[in-house]
Amino acid sequence: MRSRILAPVIVPAALPSPLTPLADPVLERAGVELRLKRDDLIHPLVPGNKWRKLTPNLRAAVVQGHTRLLTFGGAYSNHIRAVAAAGAAYGLATVGVIRGDELADAPRNWSLKRAERHGMELAFMDRAGFRETLRTLDDPATVRALEERWGRCWVLPEGGTNVLAARGAADLVVEIPGLGAGDLVCCAVGTGGTLAGIAAGLPDGARALGVAVLKGAGYLDDEVAGVHRRGWGRAFGNWRIDHAHHGGGYGRVPAGLEAFAAAFEERHGMAVERRYVAKMLRCVYELAGSGALPYGTRVTAVITGPPDPVA
Ligand SMILES: Cc1ncc(COP(=O)(O)O)c(C=O)c1O
Repeated sequence: MRSRILAPVIVPAALPSPLTPLADPVLERAGVELRLKRDDLIHPLVPGNKWRKLTPNLRAAVVQGHTRLLTFGGAYSNHIRAVAAAGAAYGLATVGVIRGDELADAPRNWSLKRAERHGMELAFMDRAGFRETLRTLDDPATVRALEERWGRCWVLPEGGTNVLAARGAADLVVEIPGLGAGDLVCCAVGTGGTLAGIAAGLPDGARALGVAVLKGAGYLDDEVAGVHRRGWGRAFGNWRIDHAHHGGGYGRVPAGLEAFAAAFEERHGMAVERRYVAKMLRCVYELAGSGALPYGTRVTAVITGPPDPVA
């Protein structure tokens, strides 16, 4: 069992992940200092917040004698690919329940192909059933139904957010020395686990800002608060979610966002993931440019993942 936990593919390439200062005249004019927390460099197959969120879950699954992980996601889900790779590294079978039963007989896209290459078994569910299964995932009857089909399994929700995942994300804050008043740690928000962990891990005075990548996702505030209640038994008042930089909705990359990301890449020689990271960075720049961040703010932007390996 021990050798499974230390299987080579899951050994992080770089921990602590690099903390890189970024000089940019736009921010300097606003009196804002920016650093990038390069979690995208942690691991090639399980990068960024995937590594932070999954490894505590996989360790717990192995310790509790599980042999199979089951999780949920869309057809291009980063989470699905990461679970497939991480599960293989830990010697666990993996099942990916994919939104959309119309995909069952369609040719596999590159993302699902990669998941299958890591041994993940894919099951396709109609959208209504998928939504309902996720909504009732805490209900023992739902888990029983899944286990009737797949056997005993460690079930992770879509996006992988649970208390263990948030604790894993909290660890990234420990790698950033000297945080305090005047510090703002920023990340993209899909399901809220990464933001919940960051906020819970911050020392007094420092604050967290999450940038929602979904449109009309006010429920995410409750999700984050719920993770705090379940994991830490308390509320934290040091975070907020920006709901104005989703770029039109999940997966949408409007021309303005594309132009911002391309210009950032050009200026800083670094590839930027579009669905999450570009939205978060653009939010930071717009808040700084509009004077919404107090002069002297030090922003640490968490780069939660690399660009898709396939354009
Ligand atoms: C690259 C990247 N950044 C951020 C997130 C959002 O993380 P969370 O779901 O914990 O809010 C995701 C989603 O899973 C992601 O793939």
